[in-house]
Amino acid sequence: MHIGADNRYEQMSYARCGRSGLMLPRISLGLWQNFGLEKTLEEQKEIIFQAFDHGITHFDLANNYGNPAPGLAEENFGKILHNELSSYRDELVISTKAGFDMWPGPYGNWGSRKYLTASLDQSLKRMGLNYVDIFYHHRPDPETPLEETMGALSDMVRRGKALYVGISNYQEPETRRAAEILKANGTPCLIHQPRYNMFERWVEDGLLDTLEEAGVGCIAYSPLAQGALTDRYLKGIPEGSRASRQGTTVQGRYLTEEKLEKVRRLNEIAQSRGQSLAQMALLWVLRKSQVTSVLVGASSAAQLKNSMDSLKGAAFTQDELDTIEEILQQR
Ligand SMILES: NC(=O)c1ccc[n+]([C@@H]2O[C@H](COP(=O)([O-])OP(=O)(O)OC[C@H]3O[C@@H](n4cnc5c(N)ncnc54)[C@H](OP(=O)(O)O)[C@@H]3O)[C@@H](O)[C@H]2O)c1
Repeated sequence: MHIGADNRYEQMSYARCGRSGLMLPRISLGLWQNFGLEKTLEEQKEIIFQAFDHGITHFDLANNYGNPAPGLAEENFGKILHNELSSYRDELVISTKAGFDMWPGPYGNWGSRKYLTASLDQSLKRMGLNYVDIFYHHRPDPETPLEETMGALSDMVRRGKALYVGISNYQEPETRRAAEILKANGTPCLIHQPRYNMFERWVEDGLLDTLEEAGVGCIAYSPLAQGALTDRYLKGIPEGSRASRQGTTVQGRYLTEEKLEKVRRLNEIAQSRGQSLAQMALLWVLRKSQVTSVLVGASSAAQLKNSMDSLKGAAFTQDELDTIEEILQQR
């Protein structure tokens, strides 16, 4: 059994998630990558202990996480939890999701009640849990009535399989409707999980305001643009990096010459602030009052420590924000 560091809660700050009773750490850990076969169980443990010992209480999963086999991240996390952290269950906020392709046939994908109900049961089994803290619908389903999908989420709470529910990758209008339905069901939407980083800012065009109005929290995923907004790719693609692995999207999405030029300039600003670029990029996302937490990934404990240390950084001056804006807007 792992013994958590005594001072773990002094090292992290926490924010209220929307208008709920739940506090989340400003930095949370996601297990999308590096928790399948990319890393040994020992390496995975190191990252999770690093998180827990520094006050990260929130661990984010999904039914389909785990390379090469969807579900493997939940299985591995379940093993670590059971063997090392089981006495700390009440100190943890564990989330999972369903919404992407998971098993063959018409009931293993999207947003039907049939799929969501079976998927959460499978996730609980893989992780060895009686309930998850947050259950998300992973992406909007254009075919299934929103009332059915939200009704299924609400029923997971009523059945005690999830404490709270959330949505991910929903655009602004569908977020507004989903929040209304969940509220009418008596199971308010706790949280929205959108992609948000210096390169991808669609949430600024209305979603963040809607979340604030509806009292829904926001956890920003891929705040480092999968590693592109760090010093990782300043000298090419290192072996072992995400971009070096087959089937990942970081290279096509972010490693263009135009973006890399911005990364070099942003890196200079970070250096002048005495921070790593990763730290500056995380603080930049957290500058928005509606953002409850940034959801980072990490391939090592040292990397995660570097990211967590972002919270020690100084607030941005207006000049710094203007210069960052100018770099980001430059074509
Ligand atoms: N809801 C959704 O649809 C959705 C989609 C994607 C992700 N997510 C969630 O968001 C989580 C985070 O996503 P992400 O992994 O893309 O986030 P990210 O934090 O943008 O990228 C993480 C990657 O950046 C690099 N990195 C991290 N910290 C670093 C540091 N301090 N210095 C240098 N490089 C650093 C590492 O790359 P290397 O591995 O190359 O070292 C790491 O794997 C996922 O695990 C998942 O929980 C949700």
